[in-house]
Amino acid sequence: MHLSQMQQWLAQRRDQGLYRQEQLLQPLPGGLLGFNGQTLLNFSGNDYLGLASAPTLRQAFADAAHNVGSAATGSPLVTGFQRAHAELSRVLCDWLGVEAVLLFSSGFAANQAMLSALVAPDELLLLDKYCHASMQDVLMQGQLRFKRYPHQDFQALRQLLAKAQDKAVVVATEGVFSMDGDITDSRALLSLLSPEQPLLLDDAHGIGVLGEEGRGSWQQQGVTAQQLQCLMANFGKALAGQGGFLAGSRDVIDYIRQQSRHYIYSTALSPALCQAMVHSIELCRREQWRRDKMAENIALFRSGAVTAGLQLTDSVTAIQPLLCRDNATAILWSQALKKAGIWLTAIRPPTVPQARLRICLSAAHSPAQITNLISALVKARPVDSDSN
Ligand SMILES: Cc1ncc(COP(=O)(O)O)c(C=O)c1O
Repeated sequence: MHLSQMQQWLAQRRDQGLYRQEQLLQPLPGGLLGFNGQTLLNFSGNDYLGLASAPTLRQAFADAAHNVGSAATGSPLVTGFQRAHAELSRVLCDWLGVEAVLLFSSGFAANQAMLSALVAPDELLLLDKYCHASMQDVLMQGQLRFKRYPHQDFQALRQLLAKAQDKAVVVATEGVFSMDGDITDSRALLSLLSPEQPLLLDDAHGIGVLGEEGRGSWQQQGVTAQQLQCLMANFGKALAGQGGFLAGSRDVIDYIRQQSRHYIYSTALSPALCQAMVHSIELCRREQWRRDKMAENIALFRSGAVTAGLQLTDSVTAIQPLLCRDNATAILWSQALKKAGIWLTAIRPPTVPQARLRICLSAAHSPAQITNLISALVKARPVDSDSN
């Protein structure tokens, strides 16, 4: 593309208010972050358990960097599968009750690998319409036959399954939806499927947070890992790291290993990070108080927000969206909150169908910070909006 075309396009994005830009932030312990010399309350991060600032995790990462180094030096099938990768894989299998896992450099890559490998050209993929961009992007590549059903609408899914008749079908969804915070009833979903119709589940926002020892949303719903053909989750949220993984039976994982370009042609995760993630999973399993504290913060926020007249959704997870009537309201609200010392990013279409403030609660927040958030939300609400 010619440079002048790029410049024109960039100018248009700015004019339309759609230009995207990073902000230079410094995450701080205690649910805080630094921005432009100011310290703000952070309600936009995915550090659900507060592990990002856990001193022992930081120490484990530093020690691991010293002991095993930062570099995998190659892709997993060349030089990139080392003792730290094997240990992390073993720990994941033990925790989740699966036979095998594959580690990926991001959850995004893991999702792409899962759909690319596990939906055959003659099969039909049925996908929740709100699934993450990493899954939607595979559909755009044009190699899969797919239909999207309305968000969490199992009636619509049932109809699509009936229509598919004897066509082979694969269903994919998220355990906890990233922008809405609602939990998928994976047990009810499985009851719609025959044993030949596999379910693929992205539990990026459920892992660490829900279920016994934080195994995930599926376990909280009474589903076993064996009922999912493949589970995807990542280290970048509750587990306070980076990268992703796929988990399943030995054969399913082996099939993905042979098939996946994301796995074969990409540098493996840093061994130091893998070792740190072993420690993170240990903390996550052992320290139930983190999930309890997060649950208390969610309850405190929800009751206070309702009393304050804010309109909440039904989400019972740490993701609490405040839907806004339009983009301008979301942006003005977010900007006013920033002036009041609160970092809460406005999320707008096309990322979501309706603009919102996506509040992310964490075990790192104190009750006083939650109370501050509620009063700031009320005070900062744009004047001409009597509702969100
Ligand atoms: C639901 C969901 N799936 C997948 C991903 C991608 O994971 P990662 O950030 O590890 O690439 C994300 C993260 O943004 C997500 O929210």
